[in-house]
Amino acid sequence: MSKTLAAYFSASGTTAKVAETLAKAANADVYEIKPAVPYTRADLDWTNKKSRSSR
Ligand SMILES: Cc1cc2nc3c(=O)[nH]c(=O)nc-3n(C[C@H](O)[C@H](O)[C@H](O)COP(=O)(O)O)c2cc1C
Repeated sequence: MSKTLAAYFSASGTTAKVAETLAKAANADVYEIKPAVPYTRADLDWTNKKSRSSR
């Protein structure tokens, strides 16, 4: 039987928790997709039209 992989990207940890729970329930391997350059708090400021995440 093929093995399932739960691959996730999480900026704040919320999706990470869900992915871990899902992976356990599905007996899946878990893999975190990480940005080459980590996101800072300022990068994630969606109220700033010029922030990295907004652009
Ligand atoms: C840049 C950015 C944009 C977001 N945009 C939305 C949005 O449009 N609608 C929404 O409901 N939540 C939005 N969120 C909130 C995220 O969906 C929420 O914080 C989620 O828990 C993030 O989980 P994660 O960081 O583990 O992926 C946004 C968060 C960030 C950082």
